Amino acid sequence: PARIRTHHLAQAKADGRKFTMLTAYDALMAEIFDATGVETLLVGDSAANNMMGQSTTLPITMDEMIVFARSVTAGARRALVVVDLPFGSYEASVEQAVTSGVRLMKEAGVHAVKLEGGAFYADHVRALTRAGVPVIGHIGFTPQSEHALGGYRVQGRNDEAAAALIEDARALESAGAFCVLMEMVPAKAARRVDEALTIPTIGIGAGPATTGQVLVWQDMLGLRSGRLPRFVKQYADLRSVVHDAVTAYREDVASASFPSDEHSF
Ligand code: KIV
Ligand code: NA
Repeated sequence: PARIRTHHLAQAKADGRKFTMLTAYDALMAEIFDATGVETLLVGDSAANNMMGQSTTLPITMDEMIVFARSVTAGARRALVVVDLPFGSYEASVEQAVTSGVRLMKEAGVHAVKLEGGAFYADHVRALTRAGVPVIGHIGFTPQSEHALGGYRVQGRNDEAAAALIEDARALESAGAFCVLMEMVPAKAARRVDEALTIPTIGIGAGPATTGQVLVWQDMLGLRSGRLPRFVKQYADLRSVVHDAVTAYREDVASASFPSDEHSF
């Protein structure tokens, strides 16, 4: 099947259809996700947490993002692959943003980038778009700013904050963003943002009104330990699948029942 393009996502919103985004960080999972028909894969800087065991997304570098992103583009045939501009790769200037975006497309073969921020980054978004790098603007709770925002908190709770979200989303759309992603925003505010825009929206913890939904795969497949955020629906328990399988393997080795004749030459 043909590659999903940004205009397919725009058409989904125009037609009142939903689409799905899922994180991916490696080729094999990307291949499995892609085969399900998931429209977009996000090489999130959440790779810092989910692949590298870090407690925030802040430490991941461009070089590291490129390794994950190149792996995902190698595994995905159909999905539109979006990569996060990591913390420190775009904030300083429009030039820095374009250099980083171009590098991710050139070296990792991604189809679009995502950056955290609203109206303040309109110039960055415009320049990237002009350079041929499609952009998703990420607003609401933005994990790269968790120290500035004072931790994981729902954003846009009062009318004033909801109005600011709409302003940010409009500025991103005017600057050429093809999508706006909202994280941890009240469902009502997210609906207002979606209604204010022509371009599609994607939500995580932003209620049902957004055009698309995104989840982190280790959360929705139950690979991760610990309490999940309220916005996650867990569709599988991979952690126990893996634990039980590896335990069986270990027991087979300990009891000398693996390898048997059938696994030997
Ligand atoms: O890095 C990430 O996984 C993300 C999603 C949670 C939207 O940015
Ligand atoms: Na991210």
